[in-house]
Amino acid sequence: MSTDAIVLLKEDHKEMRRLFKAFQDAEEGPASQRQKLVDQILEALTVHTYLENEVMYPEVRRLLPDLEDDILESYEEHHVADVLCAELASMNADDERFNAKTTVLIENVTHHVEEEEQDWFPKVRDALGRKQLQEIGEKMIALRADAPRTPAAPKAIKKALDAVTA
Ligand SMILES: [Fe+2]
Ligand SMILES: [Fe+2]
Repeated sequence: MSTDAIVLLKEDHKEMRRLFKAFQDAEEGPASQRQKLVDQILEALTVHTYLENEVMYPEVRRLLPDLEDDILESYEEHHVADVLCAELASMNADDERFNAKTTVLIENVTHHVEEEEQDWFPKVRDALGRKQLQEIGEKMIALRADAPRTPAAPKAIKKALDAVTA
């Protein structure tokens, strides 16, 4: 299995896209099914944004100062996703706003993931060596076991606050 940071993050993105598609297919379906899919989406996003905020973004910012603007924009996009995730976590699937809020979350995250994959991950790949990307990936693998899994977890809340006050 690869430990390359970009490979690992793209694997997460692929799983998110799968869950987003599953939700879109289930949009008219039973509340229990939509609830289950949104719980999975919230867990996937909480873990992923945590690893990016705690490891990938600060490492890229430190190693490649030219990408500062991309990183700052990405933190802000995570913050928008954090707010939507926190609101969804306290809603029920039978709420009339549940599908609408999930759709906005999916649209925002899809846009954000496209920017990562198309705009700045390629620049990081070009600028950093394979070994550096593997070291960053290893840090993310190590942190993954301790990552928060729900938006209400204290570490998730701290991460969301750190991102806008740091
Ligand atoms: Fe991200
Ligand atoms: Fe990402």
